[in-house]
Formats: sequence, structure tokens, C-alpha cells
Amino acid sequence: MKQFPRPSTELNLRAQVVSTLLQVQQGQSLAGLLHHQLNEIPERDRALFHELVLGTLRQWYALKAITLPLLAKPLHNETVETCLYVGLYQVLCTRIPAHAAISETVTASKQLGFHALSGIVNAILRRATRETEEFQHHLQQAHGLPSWLYKRLKKDWPLQVDDLCQQLKQTAPLTLRINQRYIGRDAYLTKLQAQDIQAHACTLSEVGIVMEQSVQITALPGFEQGWFSVQDEHAQLCATLVPDLNEHLVLDACAAPGGKTAHLLEKFKPQSLIALDQDTQRLLRVSENLQRLKLPQNNVEIITADATTWQTNQALDCIVLDAPCSATGVIRRHPDIRLLRQSSDIAQTVALQKQILQNLWKQLNVGGTLLYVTCSILKVENEQQMIDFLAEHSNAEEIKIEATWGIEQIHGRQLLPASGQGDGFYYCRIKKVA
Ligand SMILES: C[S@@+](CC[C@H](N)C(=O)[O-])C[C@H]1O[C@@H](n2cnc3c(N)ncnc32)[C@H](O)[C@@H]1O
Repeated sequence: MKQFPRPSTELNLRAQVVSTLLQVQQGQSLAGLLHHQLNEIPERDRALFHELVLGTLRQWYALKAITLPLLAKPLHNETVETCLYVGLYQVLCTRIPAHAAISETVTASKQLGFHALSGIVNAILRRATRETEEFQHHLQQAHGLPSWLYKRLKKDWPLQVDDLCQQLKQTAPLTLRINQRYIGRDAYLTKLQAQDIQAHACTLSEVGIVMEQSVQITALPGFEQGWFSVQDEHAQLCATLVPDLNEHLVLDACAAPGGKTAHLLEKFKPQSLIALDQDTQRLLRVSENLQRLKLPQNNVEIITADATTWQTNQALDCIVLDAPCSATGVIRRHPDIRLLRQSSDIAQTVALQKQILQNLWKQLNVGGTLLYVTCSILKVENEQQMIDFLAEHSNAEEIKIEATWGIEQIHGRQLLPASGQGDGFYYCRIKKVA
């Protein structure tokens, strides 16, 4: 019979972590859960709660791989398995003293209703404290992905796959995009230096800064004045790949929450920019972001619509299509994707991307450019999607991206997640020639 956790006030912190992870296993996104649950956790415990939830998710399949051989028979109990992963994560990947990690996690398994099985949790965690180095070695060796995803990546990236899997287990750096309308990157770095905040300039993005220490975003200089946004370095390349948008009619087709919309408006003054997305709630964040960044909005139209069917009677000069995708390139920032994404989702996502591409292509002016972007590292959503599109559209021609970054594909360029740098992104530029 399925057991439901007791109200969070009766649970210790580890049990609250486990109950959050159980909800992710049932298909809920971590961002939504954290939004509600962090408020229920006393402020002094929030950082640890956050670290244990994200860290365990980051190592999820690696922890699973090292746990299975330790069990005499399968547990068939998600709660106790999750307690084990949270316990092992603490023992193997954090500086939490082993005795505290073990006793709190064993108590959590009891609080969650599994007194009888708490002995197994205790025994395995004690063994991990005795054989820490060996356990850590096995954890490091494990690819840490669901097997369907590992197989796909191995097929797509045979040379890079081992490094790629290790990269995906890391935490991504916090990266800012400086709002050039108000302050230059060097001037902003000087402001950070003056406050003893360690940071350095990005190598690929000319407007990016990588933070070298954890910081509270809203307390950084110029947050209220709109001097910067938080945005991955590889996502910042989008605005460098579009043609000059000044005085042109532009569509940002899947715009919410507006990271790329804002960057385009920081760099250009289009005659009109349509920010379209099907998610009204997420679209609210586009206007909030533009407002904080103090970007003029008189030429911006924010529209809730389905990009597979939306039509306009004004032909567009440029379309940025940051397409819905598997988000496999941003697993470092959203480790719950490991559990949430299913193999069967991929074909559906590819079909949706194809439909959006086909519909939007009809709205583009002859001579206009479509920039196709995903945060996926699967070729089927990227290179293959573009091979199919170009084969089916005789009026489409690729404009090669000449760059030193990323991996050149048959069409477009692929960036893989890189240590201390950006996430997995794909870009391909297509011109409408007739
Ligand atoms: C990768 S996110 C966009 C991120 C955004 N461009 C940014 O830089 O902040 C993809 C977006 O596609 C939207 N989307 C998914 N299916 C859509 C559809 N059929 N029509 C319009 N938008 C869609 C989602 O709501 C989501 O906001």
C-alpha cells in the first residue's frame, strides 16, 4: 500500500528532502515544488535542504547504480530507496559528519513509516562510511543518467560521451549578462571588485560574467537598476547570431520567460518585436524582466498563442525560435530532468518542433532569417531536425555560423556543457531565399 508522508512540520529535514524527491519521482517539476516548499523550511535549514535535494538528483542514477549490488533483494520501496540515496549523497559527496548523516537519515526513514526497513538504511550507510573511497570511486565511474539517455548520447557523441556524462553531474556556474544599455562589462566587474565579489569575464560571450562565489542575486550592484540578468553563457550567444534587427520586424517565437527577448532588446531597436509563447504565466515574466531591465516596451507586443498555428498578416524579417526541447543540455541546472524526461517524450518533442518550424516558416519574409535554437544535446532535435527541414523546404538555405566555439554539425553548431562555462545549446541559421 502506498504510504503518504506526514505533514512536513513533523518530519526532520532529511524526511522533507525525501518527500520532495518522491514528488519529483511522481512527475512534479522541482522548480514548482521548491517554490512552495522552501517557505515551509526554517530559513536556517534552507541552504542544506536545497543542497541535499539538488545534489541527490544530480547523482541519482549513479547512487542507484552503486546501491543495487548492495541489496540482497530489490526493496521495491521508493521511500526507503530515496532515503538511501539521500544518506549516501551526504556520506560520499558532502562534509556533513557521517554520524549526523546516518542518524538523521535513519530517523527520516522511520518518520516516513518504515521502521522495519530502517535497519537496511543504517547498515548500508555504515558500510559506506567504512568503505568511503571505494564507494566514491564507483560513484565517480557511473555515468549517472537513465539508460535510455545514456544510450542516445553514446550514439550521438561517441567520442565525447564519457566526459559529457561527468560534465552533466557538475553544477553549472552562475553567469550574468550585462545590460550594455546601462553599463559596460569592465565597469561592472570593477563594481563587483569594489565589493570584494570575485568574478571574471566570460570567454565566448562579450557581455557575460561568471561569478566565482555564491551570491544573492538581488543584493548585487545594479539589480534594481536593471544592469544585469542571470543567463547562461551559451544562451547569450543567441543575440550575436541574428542579423542587424534595427528597424526590423522580429518574432521571438517561444519567448517566455524572456531571457533572449531582453538580450535582443538590449542590443537592437527593432521596429517591432513580438514575444510569443503559449504559457500565459511564464509570459508575465517577460514583461517583469523588461521592466526591471528598463527596456523600452512601446515596440514590444507580448502574445499568448500556439506557435504551431499562430499567423500574422505582417511578414517577419527575423524569427528567433528557441524551441521547446528535451532540455538535456541544461541538466546541470535542472537535475530533476534526469527523472522527469522519458524516452517516449523525445519523438513528441521532435514532432512539435517540426510543426512550429513549418508554421513559422510561412510567416517569414523572403530574405529573412530564422535562428533555430535548443538547449538540447540530442541530434534528433538539432542536426537531424535541420537536415529534415532543409530537405523539405527548397526555399531554405543555411547561413553557416562561422565560429570557433562548439562542434560543427552537418547543419548548425552544437555546444556541449563545459566546466565553468555554458550549458548544452544548439544553433542553426536559415535564410528564406524564395
Ligand atoms: C526554451 S523555452 C524558451 C526560453 C526563452 N526563449 C528564454 O530565453 O527565456 C521554450 C518555451 O516554449 C514554449 N512553448 C512550448 N510549446 C509552445 C507552442 N506550441 N507555442 C508557443 N510556445 C510554446 C514554452 O512555454 C517555453 O516557454
